[in-house]
Amino acid sequence: MFRILLPLLVASSGVWGQAASGNYADCGDLAPNQADLVGTWASGTGAVQTGPNFVNPLNFSFSYPQTTGISYSFTTDGFFEEAWYRFNSNGSNPNCIQGVIQWQHGTYCPLANGSIVLNPFAPDGRQQVQDPCSPVSNIIQQFNATTLLNTWQLNNDPQWGTQLLLFQFDDSPLSPMYQFANPPVMLPTQVLTPNVTNGQQLNAARSTASISPMLTILVGVVAGGLGLATCL
Ligand SMILES: *[C@@H]1O[C@H](CO)[C@@H](O)[C@H](O)[C@H]1NC(C)=O
Ligand SMILES: *[C@@H]1O[C@H](CO)[C@@H](O)[C@H](O)[C@H]1NC(C)=O
Ligand SMILES: *[C@@H]1O[C@H](CO)[C@@H](O)[C@H](O)[C@H]1NC(C)=O
Ligand SMILES: *[C@@H]1O[C@H](CO)[C@@H](O)[C@H](O)[C@H]1NC(C)=O
Ligand SMILES: *[C@@H]1O[C@H](CO)[C@@H](O)[C@H](O)[C@H]1NC(C)=O
Repeated sequence: MFRILLPLLVASSGVWGQAASGNYADCGDLAPNQADLVGTWASGTGAVQTGPNFVNPLNFSFSYPQTTGISYSFTTDGFFEEAWYRFNSNGSNPNCIQGVIQWQHGTYCPLANGSIVLNPFAPDGRQQVQDPCSPVSNIIQQFNATTLLNTWQLNNDPQWGTQLLLFQFDDSPLSPMYQFANPPVMLPTQVLTPNVTNGQQLNAARSTASISPMLTILVGVVAGGLGLATCL
């Protein structure tokens, strides 16, 4: 794996420049209760959690969790990490279930107006999309998306403890998350792959593990149920 990756890393130089600092210098007014965000949060039973068990950005690899979910970590000094693993169904073709696993880290700003802005370290984000209906069905690549979380809420769930709700730019909520670690479990909070370029990818057909077996099982069940497999 490193024999493949190393030339790619060396070939492209410092596209993103220096590592961002994790202080709140460019955050504007901070939320008074931002300390409450600190920790590692995860949906459901915590099958998906941030940290080194989820991703290795250096060799473009994920460890595929047992079930889907999302996870966010926040530090006291302004760094975040996010991990997502999900399946998107396709309304027009039920055989075309798309598997997506993605990870980013960087700095965050919890603003006084209730929003949180996530500013990823662009070269380090990774996303693998496996789509049985796409000509390139399984790729893993650099990925970065600056994210506005419009609001956030902490609720007290009698059974599960403190619940974190994050609302997306359009006010739709992400899955409720619960605290699984504090201090948070995260990769080092700095740029880890400075020379990876925008959209750089490994073609997973050759070099990356499949998001399956879960995807294979899902697609098999749907295709079997309908008695067709047009796009497999
Ligand atoms: C990536 O590196 C980790 C160790 O850090 C190793 O466990 C894993 O198998 C590697 N994955 C690939 C696809 O090379
Ligand atoms: C990134 O590129 C710079 C400039 O070409 C080089 O000095 C540095 O060693 C590279 N870093 C890595 C991790 O490959
Ligand atoms: C849904 O499936 C069709 C093929 O039937 C494909 O053309 C389209 O891109 C798919 N949409 C998504 C969002 O994957
Ligand atoms: C909070 O302020 C930021 C930056 O000005 C803005 O992008 C965001 O939409 C605001 N959020 C709300 C909920 O008004
Ligand atoms: C991040 O991604 C966007 C959209 O793909 C791209 O335009 C931008 O140049 C990337 N890099 C940074 C540092 O934001």
